[in-house]
Amino acid sequence: MARTPIIIGNWKMHMLVGEALELARSVRNVLGGISGVEAGVAPPLTALHAVAKQEHDSKLIVAAQNCHFEAQGAFTGEVSVKMIADTGASHVIVGHSERRQIFGESDELVGKKVTAVLAGGLTPVLCIGETLAQREAKQTFDVVARQLQRGLAGVSANNAKRVIVAYEPVWAIGTGKVATTAQAQEVHAFLRGQLGEHYDAGVADAVRIQYGGSVKPDNVKGLMAQPDIDGALVGGASLNAESFVAILKYRQ
Ligand code: PGA
Repeated sequence: MARTPIIIGNWKMHMLVGEALELARSVRNVLGGISGVEAGVAPPLTALHAVAKQEHDSKLIVAAQNCHFEAQGAFTGEVSVKMIADTGASHVIVGHSERRQIFGESDELVGKKVTAVLAGGLTPVLCIGETLAQREAKQTFDVVARQLQRGLAGVSANNAKRVIVAYEPVWAIGTGKVATTAQAQEVHAFLRGQLGEHYDAGVADAVRIQYGGSVKPDNVKGLMAQPDIDGALVGGASLNAESFVAILKYRQ
């Protein structure tokens, strides 16, 4: 099955509302000339509604960067999946390594969020990846297998097909150190194998696995040429229309 590649810009804690609207507009304006790839942006929560509203009729996907797993209640500062859906956003990044490392999110918590996003009818982007210490201790496969399994705990095969997985080696995020295409492909192929084992060949074949970690215009082409790399989650290089559009045009 041909998987349509998907490239999402994760703006993290950047962009005021006006800046976000302008950047989203600049990206959307070029999408007509780019085929065969889905494009998305993940604005900060304060700009999510405005960007989703502006892009309501466009091809640009709008994603939230996080959510809470409960539907409602006394959870000061948190935002439910229903609230995110209410903004018009369609995707939710879950378990980004910054959430795991800085805010202490566990594999189990991330799994609950994935379940909540699917139950709310939105698409989760489940982020997983090993730290440098784990890679050096040769634990990469154990770590990503565990994160994948717990992230998808209780998710049916049908729902699993809707999940986007983002493999983001922590040592490559924001460091300028991109994994080599061979390092990335090796882990992506392993993850697809895991999906085949936990579910079946149909799920393994359907799930898109993005690579993330210092993706730039000059390295995206090599990464996207790998058979198991189906897109990118882009941080720093997505904050500027020129570099993000250059990434989206990786085929041209
Ligand atoms: P980076 O971030 O492209 O700045 O390395 C990627 C990410 O954190 O999703």
